[in-house]
Amino acid sequence: FSLKSYNTFGVDVQAKKFIAVHTAEELKKVLQQTYASELFILGGGSNMLLTKDIHKTVVHIAIKGIELISESRDEVVLKVGAGENWHQFVLYCLNKGYGGLENLSLIPGNVGTAPVQNIGAYGVELKDTFESCEALRIQTLEVETFNLEQCEFGYRNSVFKNKLKNEYVITSVNFRLRKKDHQLSTSYGAITSQLQQMGIKNPTITDISNAVISIRQEKLPDPRKLGNSGSFFKNPVISGDQLKEVQNNFPEIPFYKLSEQEFKVPAGWLIDQTGLKGYREGDAGVHKNQALVLVNYGSATGEEILALSKLIQKKVFEKFKLQLEPEVNVF
Ligand code: EPU
Repeated sequence: FSLKSYNTFGVDVQAKKFIAVHTAEELKKVLQQTYASELFILGGGSNMLLTKDIHKTVVHIAIKGIELISESRDEVVLKVGAGENWHQFVLYCLNKGYGGLENLSLIPGNVGTAPVQNIGAYGVELKDTFESCEALRIQTLEVETFNLEQCEFGYRNSVFKNKLKNEYVITSVNFRLRKKDHQLSTSYGAITSQLQQMGIKNPTITDISNAVISIRQEKLPDPRKLGNSGSFFKNPVISGDQLKEVQNNFPEIPFYKLSEQEFKVPAGWLIDQTGLKGYREGDAGVHKNQALVLVNYGSATGEEILALSKLIQKKVFEKFKLQLEPEVNVF
């Protein structure tokens, strides 16, 4: 069974067997019948690079449904199936007038994998509207609920990527969204200038979503047309001393202050400086509009994309003495 259309990189690897599950109960049954070590759980396939065939049964999480859990004058809580497409869900919320997710428009992938890496864009992260999630514990087959604190969200990070890695499958996520007095997040420079260009002074949540969509469409390739997995690397977080050292040679380096001792520097800028933006080897390439995005022009293998990512790490290290860390999960 080819997984080409089940990963946004569009890499053509084979799975021994493929099953889609549509409810938590179905998932439980599959886990009861097969050893967990024989299974490979696949969500939206938007944040992974597959480099070899999977000699296991691939379980595709296709749990659907959007349910209203509670509603007050100002807010709603929605329970959303892990297999709902992320952007379709954002559009659903905009249509209902529910605010909070507009900055996260057009992020590829599904709802269930969004908490794993605490997806974020344009000043907003999943954790800002996250209420809780349900996850099936593979070892016990019990469904457990995780609240905000228990998820230990960080920058592109959560407990599901760390100490609970491969132990749970998220089956649904609850979001707390605002019905009115929307708290717009327009602090991000790119959004402000896009809204200005669009001639909008008092933006609605839909205006923000439209601005985000335009910005993303300009810089980020559409995975349906050009295989990719968004940012391939995380933006490195470095100390003040490290930043000073880089600034000695590259005073123009952009940075974002996280705290007195922590600064985030854009990996896209670092890669761009090495001259690799737009670089292509076979069908694996560095996107021409955003150096942080690796692309598959058609028939690149996962190994070729991985090799390109290693070359990028090497060049960036040689130039800046900074180590880039993949954001994408490599299998
Ligand atoms: N830059 C360059 N050259 C490039 C790319 C970027 O010089 O080729 C510079 C830009 O000029 C800017 C800085 O790097 O000064 C940052 O670039 P940008 O604002 O485009 O954002 P980013 O840091 O590259 C991050 C997220 C994106 C998210 C955007 C917007 C990470 C790893 N990436 O990208 O998330 O959409 O901010 O908030 O944090 C993703 O995770 O898949 C993703 C696309």
